[in-house]
Amino acid sequence: MDTKSHLLTLLDWDASQIQQSINLAIELKSNLKSSGPETSRQGRTIAMYFEKPSLRTISTFQIGITQLGGNSIQLNPQSIGLGTREPVEDVARCVGRWADCLVIRCFDQSLVEDFAKFSGIPVINALTDDFHPCQALALGQTIQEHLGALNGKTVTFVGDGNNVANSIGIMCAKLGMHFKLACPNGYEQSARIISEINNLNKVSGGSYERYDNAQDAVKTTDLIYTDVWASMGQEEEQVERAKIFMPFQVNDELIAIAGPDCLVTHCLPAHRGEEISASVMDMAKNVCFDEAENRLHAQKAVMKLLIQK
Ligand code: CP
Repeated sequence: MDTKSHLLTLLDWDASQIQQSINLAIELKSNLKSSGPETSRQGRTIAMYFEKPSLRTISTFQIGITQLGGNSIQLNPQSIGLGTREPVEDVARCVGRWADCLVIRCFDQSLVEDFAKFSGIPVINALTDDFHPCQALALGQTIQEHLGALNGKTVTFVGDGNNVANSIGIMCAKLGMHFKLACPNGYEQSARIISEINNLNKVSGGSYERYDNAQDAVKTTDLIYTDVWASMGQEEEQVERAKIFMPFQVNDELIAIAGPDCLVTHCLPAHRGEEISASVMDMAKNVCFDEAENRLHAQKAVMKLLIQK
C-alpha cells in the first residue's frame, strides 16, 4: 500500500486528495441531515489503538463508522503491551487480518508508520506528537463552510508550534492558503516542517510567516487558531509555559485587532483563562464547536476514501 492509502500525515496527500476529502465531508454532512446515514461500509471494522486520552476523536470515529454501517473495536494498550508482550509488527499483522482499518493515537509518529508498514490495511493518524491531520481536515471543512473556497484564505495560529499547527500549516501550504504562526521564540515548528511548508508554498502560491508577537500576526487574517500551551505528554512544563505564553492569549484585545469579520477557533479541549479567554470562547465568531462537529464528517470522509466497500 502506498502512503496515499493511509492518512499518516497530510504531507502524503496531494492537494486534490485533501480537497476531495473536505468536499466529501461537506456532502456527507448535508446528506446525513437530509436523508440520514448512508451505510456504504456495512460490515467493515475499524480497530482503534489510543495511548493518549480523547473525547472528540474517539467518539467521532466510533459514531462515524457506525453511521457508515460498520463497527469499531478498542485495542487496549495495557493489555497488548506493544514492544514488551509482543513486537509492533506482529500486532499489526494480526490486526490487519481481522480489521479493515486501524485508527491510532500515540506519541511517536514512527509507530503509526510501523503499523502502516506491517498491517496491510489503511492506517489513520488520530494524533501523534508530530501531526493531527484529522483536526486540520475538520478545520478546512469549517473554513470552507463559513468563508467559501480555501485557496487564498489566511489562518493565523497563535500558540505553540505543535502537532496541530504542523498539520494546519501543511494543509494550508498544499491548498495555496496563507499560514502565520505567532509563538514565543523557541516554540516554533521544527526546521524540517518549515522547510516542507516553504517548498509546498512554491508550488501552491501559499505563504508561511512566523511572528514573535500575536498582535502583529493577526492584523490581517481570516481566522485565528489556538490550542493548549502544553500538549499531551508535556504536562510537567505546564507552569513554565503558562508564564511564557501568556502574552499570546487569544482574548478580546487580540480579537479587536483582527477585526469583526475574523473567525476564531480552538482544537479543544480549551483552557479558559490560559490560551483563550472565557469571553472569546463564548463569542459568536468562535467556530470551535462547528469544527468539533465537523470532526465526525471529516473522518467519515477519510474512512470512506480509504476503506474499500
Ligand atoms: N481535538 C481533539 O483531538 O480532541 P480529543 O483529544 O478530545 O480527541
